[in-house]
Amino acid sequence: MTSTDDRRIHSRDRALPHPPYRIPFLGDLWDLHVTDSSQWGWRGAQRYGGIYERNVLGARITYVSSPELVAEVNNEDRWAKFLGVPIRNLRAVAGDGLFTAHNSEPNWAKAHAILAPAFTQSSMRTYHDSMIESTDKLLQHWASREGSWCDVPADTSKLALDVIGRVAFGFDFETFSGSEPHELVVRFQRVLRYINRAAYSHPLVEATLFRPQRDQHREDIAVIHRLVDDIVASRQSSSGGGDLLDLMLSSVDPVTGEPLSSENIRNQILTFLVAGQETSAGVMAFALHFLSTHSDVVDKVRAEFETVCPDGELTFDRVAKLRYLRQVVDETLRLWPVAPGYFRKARGDTFLGSHPFEAGEWVFVVLLQLHRNDAWGANADEFDPDRWGRERRPADLANLYKPFGTGMRGCIGRQFAYHEILVTLASVVGHFELEPEPGYDLQVTESITLRPSDLRLRMTLRDAGGHQL
Ligand code: HEM
Repeated sequence: MTSTDDRRIHSRDRALPHPPYRIPFLGDLWDLHVTDSSQWGWRGAQRYGGIYERNVLGARITYVSSPELVAEVNNEDRWAKFLGVPIRNLRAVAGDGLFTAHNSEPNWAKAHAILAPAFTQSSMRTYHDSMIESTDKLLQHWASREGSWCDVPADTSKLALDVIGRVAFGFDFETFSGSEPHELVVRFQRVLRYINRAAYSHPLVEATLFRPQRDQHREDIAVIHRLVDDIVASRQSSSGGGDLLDLMLSSVDPVTGEPLSSENIRNQILTFLVAGQETSAGVMAFALHFLSTHSDVVDKVRAEFETVCPDGELTFDRVAKLRYLRQVVDETLRLWPVAPGYFRKARGDTFLGSHPFEAGEWVFVVLLQLHRNDAWGANADEFDPDRWGRERRPADLANLYKPFGTGMRGCIGRQFAYHEILVTLASVVGHFELEPEPGYDLQVTESITLRPSDLRLRMTLRDAGGHQL
């Protein structure tokens, strides 16, 4: 860490690499990519280095990806979570829920203290059966479509919604029933699409050109809030189902002794839908893409499964023993961190490396580049789960791999995500041969998270031993 004692800190003294042809007033506006901003941020890191900036109409966006500088911004004493534009806009839906709360909001600490015990590895035992049941629905769905091409991201998204609905608030969205999606889901997806498109728009543009969409957006949010309030209210008047909603209704913050308000409980439920669905679904989809194109990896996954689960039953205790499959998941998250970065802001005037930052200035950590740093070896762009073996892991792993963010605002759902992803992948690979579409070239779509574009696989049932569909 650099000492700040003997140097005056002015952001105007900060000169960082940036795209060429900077224009007065407009800055690097011409170089802004809105629909693939994370992948563009990554390309920039490859061109301009471990720290660079874009200046858009006077606003400076700093991209950080060298492990040394990322380690500095992860230092909780000097830097803290910042709500960048897309996350800040989510507050319209999830308010001061865990993911979108400002660091200073008292409800963050309260909700964190109440909910953290429900997200430990051992707590996953409580959700395991639900996860298995939801996964069975996916397997049935693909078995019924055997021989045809399956839209993998759409189906993993349905699965993750099924899981989170049941575990968070005991709600069955019936995602695989074949009927129309639930109103909450339809409106919720429209809200996320709107937020993503309008992230860098101007309110005047939204009030004129996009007025019908903006009005629809406002109506959607009002209806979503009412629907979730109804779920909370009906649970308040009945006995619970041992889910996260129950926990929130029946617990108090150990520090203040206060319970969460109904409004905050609604915000947390919507937070789990925002933060816990498309993330896990994206990882499952990317992993299935890699598995469909790496038969040697699939063989090892199956061999491990047969050793750990000789009778074909994936019990809770066995999931943690699927160590090679866990390497597959980590390798997938390394190459395609579905939450492709996070924002950090300076707590006070400070230096990042030799670059001065004034209090409140913020940076974006480019995980797509950090995760492919040279320290990962010459084949950093390749899918190679064996690199996670004890002898090959990079020594400085803690600063090279951050798919779940960092510090006290890092992902509370990490264990949850690993458990549901491992259960799903083990079950799918156990039951199906995965056939990639000829000529498929992985392209990545960005909304708030990343997912593979147009990924379709053909599933053929194999003899899965003990557990039959
Ligand atoms: C592989 C899947 C997942 C990934 C890659 C992921 C990634 C992340 C990242 C990077 C952050 C930090 C964001 C920031 O600093 O602004 C975060 C926070 C969070 N995640 Fe996840 N997440 C995943 C799954 C989940 C799941 C399944 C849940 C819930 C069931 C969840 C709930 C949350 C919450 C509530 C926060 C905010 C924590 C806080 O600020 O206290 N996530 N996640």
